[in-house]
Amino acid sequence: MPRVVTRNHKVILIAGGAGFVGSNLCRRLIDEGHEIICVDNFQTGNRCNIAPFLQHRHFRLIQHDICDPLDISGPVDEIYNMACAASPDRYQEGPVHTCKTCFLGALNLLELARRKNARILQSSTSEVYGDPEISLQDESYRGCVNTCGPRACYDEGKRVAETLFWEYGAHNGVETRIARIFNTYGPNMDPADGRVVSNFIVQALKGEDLTVYGTGLQTRSFCYVSDLVDGLIRLMASDEKMPVNLGNPGEFTMLELAEKVVKMVRSRAGVTFRPLPQDDPRQRKPNITRAKTILGWSPKVNLDEGLAATIEWYRERLAADQEAEAPAGQ
Ligand SMILES: NC(=O)c1ccc[n+]([C@@H]2O[C@H](COP(=O)([O-])OP(=O)(O)OC[C@H]3O[C@@H](n4cnc5c(N)ncnc54)[C@H](O)[C@@H]3O)[C@@H](O)[C@H]2O)c1
Repeated sequence: MPRVVTRNHKVILIAGGAGFVGSNLCRRLIDEGHEIICVDNFQTGNRCNIAPFLQHRHFRLIQHDICDPLDISGPVDEIYNMACAASPDRYQEGPVHTCKTCFLGALNLLELARRKNARILQSSTSEVYGDPEISLQDESYRGCVNTCGPRACYDEGKRVAETLFWEYGAHNGVETRIARIFNTYGPNMDPADGRVVSNFIVQALKGEDLTVYGTGLQTRSFCYVSDLVDGLIRLMASDEKMPVNLGNPGEFTMLELAEKVVKMVRSRAGVTFRPLPQDDPRQRKPNITRAKTILGWSPKVNLDEGLAATIEWYRERLAADQEAEAPAGQ
């Protein structure tokens, strides 16, 4: 039975709420007047991301690893599972923990959703498509994933999490939603987390050469975080139980992205080429027809606008970090 909410705001649990996407989601949902319970183990999350909400009467922080079962006092209407390191550098530091986060974490949150009669959304990923053999990935594509490579803990973890969500949705009476998220960027993305947009911007701002892996001709699609957050909220509110792609279909090579960043930062940085990591996908481009049809959603922020806002955020963040590191009295 779906929960009937008689309060005029919802109680929303965001696992991974101190991370990049999770903290942007916290901000949007707090601004909409909801009560937020942020659950995070701070593996990759940062207290700076949630500092603006810590004193808010509608914000509660619980430091907890979702690999362990959790109980929450009081009602919970919705759960967003955003908890999992998303940067390959970070999720490969503890691959078994990444598998556990994806499987046990999802299981523990699904059990919580079942007990609370809450609706639950899984942040899945385009990585479930692996290194795709088709150029435009729609949700019916079953993927090309290596089960025994360095990315497998994340890719296969996310695949089994989708299966768990599907099972709980189909047979255990839980209202489940699955978002297949493609590369997203924007404010609150850790400057050191190793993803391409943050790498390029930080390197350009520091006047260092931008590191390009392989030939730089591999492609990615980049979605600005406010667009993604909007899509997640729409998906949660929808009746759709099957996976939905959320991403920006604009496709760019790594060299095109590097060129844009250097130009926008007005940097003189060049490019250094490094070998392509194992199993790095050659291309990524979402087909978002289902998101358009079912959710009435499509991204609004183009790459130039999104990069401009993101560069500004990194400029301020690096300046604040520098100030914090400067010896007292300087
Ligand atoms: N950002 C993207 O481009 C992208 C793309 C596809 C999918 N996703 C998915 O979206 C979600 C959020 O990604 P992000 O970019 O914000 O990553 P992130 O690393 O910035 O945030 C993840 C958050 O989850 C927390 N976390 C990790 N493991 C945990 C655990 N076991 N228990 C409790 N907290 C835990 C981290 O401390 C962090 O706050 C992830 O599930 C990721 O797989 C993101």
